[in-house]
Amino acid sequence: MMQRWPKKKTQFPLIALVFFVFIGSSILYNELNISQIHQNQTHDGDGGDDDHSQPSLKQTSLFESTAPLNHSLPKRPPVVLDRFSSCRSTVKYSGKKAGWVVGSSESDIRRGSAEKCDLFSGRWVFDNTSYPLYNESDCPYMSDQLACHKHGRPDLGYQYWRWQPHNCNLKRWNVTEMWEKLRDKRLMFVGDSLNRGQWISMVCLMQSVIPADKRSMSPNAHLTIFRAEEYNATVEFLWSPLLVESNSDDPVNHRLDERIMRPDSVHRHASQWEHADILVFNTYLWWRQGSVKLLWSTEENGVCEEIDGLGGMELAMEAWANWVASSVDHLKKQVFFITMSPTHLWSREWEPGSESNCYDEKTPINDESYWGSGSDLPTMRMVEKVLSRLKSKVSVLNITQLSEYRKDGHPSIYRKFWETLSPEKLSNPTSYSDCIHWCLPGVPDVWNELLFQFL
Ligand SMILES: *[C@@H]1O[C@H](CO)[C@@H](O)[C@H](O)[C@H]1NC(C)=O
Ligand SMILES: *[C@@H]1O[C@H](CO)[C@@H](O)[C@H](O)[C@H]1NC(C)=O
Ligand SMILES: *[C@@H]1O[C@H](CO)[C@@H](O)[C@H](O)[C@H]1NC(C)=O
Ligand SMILES: *[C@@H]1O[C@H](CO)[C@@H](O)[C@H](O)[C@H]1NC(C)=O
Ligand SMILES: *[C@@H]1O[C@H](CO)[C@@H](O)[C@H](O)[C@H]1NC(C)=O
Ligand SMILES: *[C@@H]1O[C@H](CO)[C@@H](O)[C@H](O)[C@H]1NC(C)=O
Ligand SMILES: *[C@@H]1O[C@H](CO)[C@@H](O)[C@H](O)[C@H]1NC(C)=O
Ligand SMILES: *[C@@H]1O[C@H](CO)[C@@H](O)[C@H](O)[C@H]1NC(C)=O
Repeated sequence: MMQRWPKKKTQFPLIALVFFVFIGSSILYNELNISQIHQNQTHDGDGGDDDHSQPSLKQTSLFESTAPLNHSLPKRPPVVLDRFSSCRSTVKYSGKKAGWVVGSSESDIRRGSAEKCDLFSGRWVFDNTSYPLYNESDCPYMSDQLACHKHGRPDLGYQYWRWQPHNCNLKRWNVTEMWEKLRDKRLMFVGDSLNRGQWISMVCLMQSVIPADKRSMSPNAHLTIFRAEEYNATVEFLWSPLLVESNSDDPVNHRLDERIMRPDSVHRHASQWEHADILVFNTYLWWRQGSVKLLWSTEENGVCEEIDGLGGMELAMEAWANWVASSVDHLKKQVFFITMSPTHLWSREWEPGSESNCYDEKTPINDESYWGSGSDLPTMRMVEKVLSRLKSKVSVLNITQLSEYRKDGHPSIYRKFWETLSPEKLSNPTSYSDCIHWCLPGVPDVWNELLFQFL
């Protein structure tokens, strides 16, 4: 029921944001600490925690076994990770790999390579006649995390930018054509809250042409589904911040002290996403919060291994890539991977000497070579390496550089915050600004326009 949507106000929060805010506020006064945290830790972009929801009482022991499922995926782990899971003990990462065999004998060329020009290299052009592609208040599925105008943002400039590739033009967004492409299909976004923002953007871009009685939105859950009857099509979002199974797979309650993941199992999520026709994956910011714990499926005594975020992400990407390699028939399924979503936590990166963040930024960055430190290059190299083995099976939507320019596109203080903000915070807007997610209408609409080019 649609009605539940706006009422369930706790759906999309990014609590981690609050976490960032704490760090942010304590360090903004201290240059030394800024650089330290800066280099070693990024803040969760994610979150979606819901402080108001009642905890489920289910308590799962890690060591009880469940009936095996029949699947082409690797043997199902004996127990399911959830937010109550814990490691019995933790040792250093042993260097173990899952030993996936990712096929590399594909003869086909990568889907995007037929493009004459690089759609991801270009500049932002002010265009208040064609943009925004929809009005914030016209979208009943808008999230309070992202509705910046509704939450008081006075400048609306962030809505009026068109992406202009250097050597060609984007095909114009056409919502009817998009629905035709989706007829009888399921389009599924899989990932964290940044990906959820892109999903909301897509729903807002597409919903207006569907009569209210011919569309529906399921309640927020692990898998949330927007359905358009006339087209027999869906636009869905699957919460899967680490891609592999983890203790953070609850779409609402995932604010946890430690991250535990199964580096060798995507089964929990894959059993949902395998039914989609078009898949759009992302993962990144969750790996930027320090080390993660690995619990291999074969481990029976609850002994976890600890690994740094990048190493953990690589293992997760390999597990995901193995699923793609073994299960995707690229004539039947289209798979996309969205690269890192940049953050704008340190204004000194684009304006040397300043001591702020994205707060009060009203225009994009003009320097075409700009690259903020929040977009980790070793991570990009690793993603390239994993994706290159999948060849034509995955198309990359390389949104990092173009989004880097958009320091003006974040909600900063103009969103709903779930926790009461102290007077000290309120008097210092940078201390609680969200410089991770993106206002809608805004940058994610362009990511979706880019997706549209490849369908
Ligand atoms: C960082 O900030 C904390 C608390 O404000 C302080 O104790 C510490 O000395 C600062 N500097 C470094 C390098 O951690
Ligand atoms: C940050 O990383 C550097 C090396 O990359 C390390 O020497 C330093 O101890 C780290 N600082 C913190 C606070 O983790
Ligand atoms: C498991 O799959 C195999 C082959 O696909 C099949 O023969 C077998 O009956 C299945 N077992 C169960 C319990 O479903
Ligand atoms: C578009 O922007 C120009 C320049 O800022 C302004 O003069 C014009 O009124 C704007 N048009 C609309 C429709 O907002
Ligand atoms: C947004 O609202 C304005 C004013 O109500 C209207 O002129 C404009 O056409 C709307 N834009 C879209 C894309 O619906
Ligand atoms: C949008 O796409 C539909 C269906 O493909 C087509 O009939 C229509 O002419 C297109 N509209 C524009 C403005 O290009
Ligand atoms: C609706 O789409 C599904 C695939 O998503 C397809 O299996 C089914 O046959 C379609 N239904 C109709 C009535 O066309
Ligand atoms: C994305 O684009 C950047 C340049 O903007 C490039 O350095 C990087 O290698 C690209 N990433 C992938 C996965 O293609």
